[in-house]
Amino acid sequence: MSDAMAPQAGSGRLGPALPASLMDPVERMSREELAALQLDRLRATLRYAYERVEVYRRKFDAAGVHPEDCRTLADLARFPFTTKADLRDSYPFGMFAVPQSEVRRIHASSGTTGRPTVVGYTENDLSLWADVVARSIRAAGGRPGHKVHVSYGYGLFTGGLGAHYGAERAGCTVIPASGGMTARQVQIIQDFKPEIIMVTPSYMLTLLDEFERQGIDPRGTSLRIGIFGAEPWTEEMRREIEERLDIHAVDIYGLSEVMGPGVAQECVDTKDGLHIWEDHFYPEVVDPITDEVLPEGESGELVFTSLTKEALPIIRYRTRDLTRLLPGTARPGLRRMEKVTGRCDDMIILRGVNLFPSQVEEVVLRTPGVAPHFQLELTRRERLDRLTVRAEARPDAGAEQRAAAAAAIARGVKDGIGLTVEVEVVDPETLERSVGKIRRIIDRREG
Ligand code: DLL
Repeated sequence: MSDAMAPQAGSGRLGPALPASLMDPVERMSREELAALQLDRLRATLRYAYERVEVYRRKFDAAGVHPEDCRTLADLARFPFTTKADLRDSYPFGMFAVPQSEVRRIHASSGTTGRPTVVGYTENDLSLWADVVARSIRAAGGRPGHKVHVSYGYGLFTGGLGAHYGAERAGCTVIPASGGMTARQVQIIQDFKPEIIMVTPSYMLTLLDEFERQGIDPRGTSLRIGIFGAEPWTEEMRREIEERLDIHAVDIYGLSEVMGPGVAQECVDTKDGLHIWEDHFYPEVVDPITDEVLPEGESGELVFTSLTKEALPIIRYRTRDLTRLLPGTARPGLRRMEKVTGRCDDMIILRGVNLFPSQVEEVVLRTPGVAPHFQLELTRRERLDRLTVRAEARPDAGAEQRAAAAAAIARGVKDGIGLTVEVEVVDPETLERSVGKIRRIIDRREG
């Protein structure tokens, strides 16, 4: 690729827009055209799920609704939700809508407790998935001929293989690095010179540290674009990664139950939240307590209904992810979702105050003297829950700067969130490093 074609990277800057000629037709559709397509597909999906999946038939019947009751998109609100528990209860294949001979691949997401949730794909599903990931890569600034280094884990996790086939579909050259063996990843990036990396933001930080450990300036690599997802990350983290690596950092969202990566993607020319590939995934945002559908612009829990999936149609799946829907910008016909910075499950309720790890991330990343590595530990003493924020000192930070950093973090959390927390600034290289999705919260409370 010539330098003239290379997107200009760097912090705060925006990348080049995708020429309309390279867009999928749906990316140029009007809202009305899209809505008509969605309604047809939604009605077909509801019928398909009702006819083929016992769990849906039972749930629809119990709620007194029939697929024919869906006459407008708003009618979807009359149908019951699907939760992770529904999938777990029918472990492993009970919610599949096709015979096993038509299932070409299986993935699973481990979750934190109990059985994994298992998902399946037909040949058409896999092809559609590759299409939406390819669309995501183009929206991120990727073009045919780019080399894509995939450091999402390969295996039952959807990240590695999802990114892989999407990058191939986009006409890119894939480097299937998977997660781990960090020193070797750095070597491969140096030698193979990929323009794009797809990885969790937390593992990107691990890779960045490794570049520096090997005495290599990460700003000098061939990388121009990072497509980061699978876990929450903040604008502060975007700035940190863009500056240290001199790339465009954009957000990719997805979940196994709905497909995998590529449900929604941030465009590099706007970096303003993620456009949802609404021709395949129909979004709603609901109040997590009352279950009411919320109007556009209001924050709540994201819910998805698949519009084209065959092996595992999913109706009103409660993602537990918190966000809000916004009108499209770079793709005016498609709605955006705001960056997901928290999950219902990750919310810490401490002495009546709600806190998400991402709020602490914002504070830690703007504090001088500490590295962007942190952990939250919950303990209980005298029946009182306490939160300790553990952040890592930068190698050059002396005792005085460490103490100042600890005070600044405590003050930042107090001022921003209203919570008193304990802060420990620990030695460099002492906190656990991510090789995939990072675990931010360590819960040591009894019972
Ligand atoms: O994490 C799929 C994926 C892989 C997405 C690679 C993006 C890149 P699961 O393992 O099923 O699937 O986990 C899904 O991860 O419900 C969110 O809580 C979280 N998540 C995924 N993408 C983002 C993101 C994959 N961009 C769960 N921002 C989801 C915040 C994200 N959270």
